[in-house]
Amino acid sequence: MRVIPGPASMHLGENIARLLNVEKVSLAFKTFADGESYVRLEGSVQDQDVIIVQTTSPPQDTRLIQLALIADAAKRNGARKIQAVVPYLAYARQDRVFLEGEALSSETIANMLKTAGIGSLLTVNVHQQKVLNRFPFPTCSVSAVALLAGYFSQKGCDEAFALAPDKGAIYLAEEADKVLKGGFGYLDKNRDRYTGQINVEKKSFNVKQKTAIIFDDVISTGGTIVAAARILKELGATKIYAACAHPLLIGDAEKRILDAGVEEIVGTDSVPSHVSKVSVAPLLSKMLVS
Ligand code: R5P
Repeated sequence: MRVIPGPASMHLGENIARLLNVEKVSLAFKTFADGESYVRLEGSVQDQDVIIVQTTSPPQDTRLIQLALIADAAKRNGARKIQAVVPYLAYARQDRVFLEGEALSSETIANMLKTAGIGSLLTVNVHQQKVLNRFPFPTCSVSAVALLAGYFSQKGCDEAFALAPDKGAIYLAEEADKVLKGGFGYLDKNRDRYTGQINVEKKSFNVKQKTAIIFDDVISTGGTIVAAARILKELGATKIYAACAHPLLIGDAEKRILDAGVEEIVGTDSVPSHVSKVSVAPLLSKMLVS
């Protein structure tokens, strides 16, 4: 077996190789002046099962193409089975056709990866489990929520209330509550499919004088967390934290969230950032050997 850490997940890929005690294959890569990607394997994968570790956070399209190119290079160089570890799976939020005439992006990506030679895929907290049902090869999504909740537990936040900012994320709050044991709930969020604007309805939870932690799969612009934090504040929560598997933190998302009264944002190294305080390497390595 060989691990190829992709350009977007060098550190995570190296950690996974170390935890699996497997040799890594280095990659030469560059971007041409016109923006095209180039990759070249610097070691042999002949007759090896290969694990490519490459997240697909922004710039998503470049990282997806790099992933496809690495898979193609591995296939051409005699790899036996190719497994992609894609902690943040781009385009997973377009999991159905919402408006007539749209592309089903998640399915398009899945087919592209299959054509490139990928035979299975492991991801973290995919936006909706049903996205993976459309993939033409075996897939698995593992959850980093217990690890994130563990971070807060170690920080002394046991019995914090776990909040999911929309109904689809209720499982995240439920999983966190198994660790924190402070109760959980969810908000109702609607998104205008034309403008992208979200509306989060206020609900009542018993968070007065309590610590509350908002758990989401992705933090992108921060709008969802800001809306949820405002509601928790109005309800009298004393301390509010935000946790997510994939801290994309686009633009001034972090500032907006902190300005809304959130004490700390905690994410995983699914998307490397300065809030990636929890590593998914042990979790992914465990899945890769089982
Ligand atoms: C959407 O339903 C996701 O679970 C996240 O809540 C969403 O992608 C977060 O986006 P933003 O940070 O832009 O509100």
